[in-house]
Amino acid sequence: MTKSAKIGVIAPEFPKMCLKTLSQNCEVAFVHPEKTKMSESEIANVVREKGLRGIIVSYADKITPRIIEAASDDFQIVSTNSVGYDHLRGVIPDATREGIALTHAPGVLTNSVAELTMTMMGIFLRPMMVGHQYMLEGKFEGWRQNLLLSPGFEGTVLGIVGMGRIGAQVARLAQAYDMEILYNDINPKKPDAFVTRMISMERLSLRELLKRSDVVTLHVDLNETSRGLIGMKELGQMKETAGLINTSRGPVVKEDDLVKALETGVIGWAALDVYEKEPAVHPGLLELGKGIVGAGGSVLLQPHLGSGARRARLAMADQAVENLLHAVKGEIDSMQLVPELDLALKTGQFEMRRIGNS
Ligand code: DGY
Repeated sequence: MTKSAKIGVIAPEFPKMCLKTLSQNCEVAFVHPEKTKMSESEIANVVREKGLRGIIVSYADKITPRIIEAASDDFQIVSTNSVGYDHLRGVIPDATREGIALTHAPGVLTNSVAELTMTMMGIFLRPMMVGHQYMLEGKFEGWRQNLLLSPGFEGTVLGIVGMGRIGAQVARLAQAYDMEILYNDINPKKPDAFVTRMISMERLSLRELLKRSDVVTLHVDLNETSRGLIGMKELGQMKETAGLINTSRGPVVKEDDLVKALETGVIGWAALDVYEKEPAVHPGLLELGKGIVGAGGSVLLQPHLGSGARRARLAMADQAVENLLHAVKGEIDSMQLVPELDLALKTGQFEMRRIGNS
């Protein structure tokens, strides 16, 4: 029986239909009522006072050892409704030791992030807003051979850094646009054979990829290797006309260096959905983002909307609920553990707590 399992929803604005599924299966002892995130001490207090068995959190909720310490011996799971789990990274050792599952929602937002990447790219490769402005200003006098020409997608060289699920989907879409595709991944096992069979692309060192690409797009997760991966040295290896897209994690790019590189013409443009000190945005980026893209503006900014397609956001919440319910039912093999715990499970270094008859 899971109906007696007390769970808490820390993630703000959690979809009503997912709350309904939860309450049909568990006792929903807490639902965060605000649109904004909770502080560390608020989360710790709720976990302690309600004696929760598990919580659902969002990417905005950083989970710390203090929160885990506040939990009772019955606490079994932190389930995030995001694919990225850098906000849970600080508790991986505690969770492994204590038998607390940390789960995430991979897969369900792949298309959404890849779509945003291609759309951001399109804003620079086919800068439509320049044409729109031209029309509004009544300048259009009919077709002209050289009117407002742009690079276009076809034949443009796209360098994809990180060939996981999202990188591979971007490659698939880029192939449909007839782009030339280069990629880099530090993991020699990525991508899998299916992806390499389906997509024609060339594997290169990061340096070589940066040198040859017209557009570089980042699809790595945030870890100690990827933090600060793109700084002045790497930007200096790119073409002067090239653009950088980041829909992965802000700290992968050194923002000070990026601003300098854009201001001094080291690279041509940047399209960003994530920020080094999110939600703060570097003032230099805000300044550079003021002009119309393609007509003076070299920066396009979005408020972390990679997964922002409605279908994806709902699927992420569904996935978080599913993971939580598997945990309270003791169905460890059906849960989507974060990779470190998954590995620890396979090597016998992690065993989830069992409560009552779960
Ligand atoms: C994720 O899932 O990791 C996104 O960045 C937040 O939606």
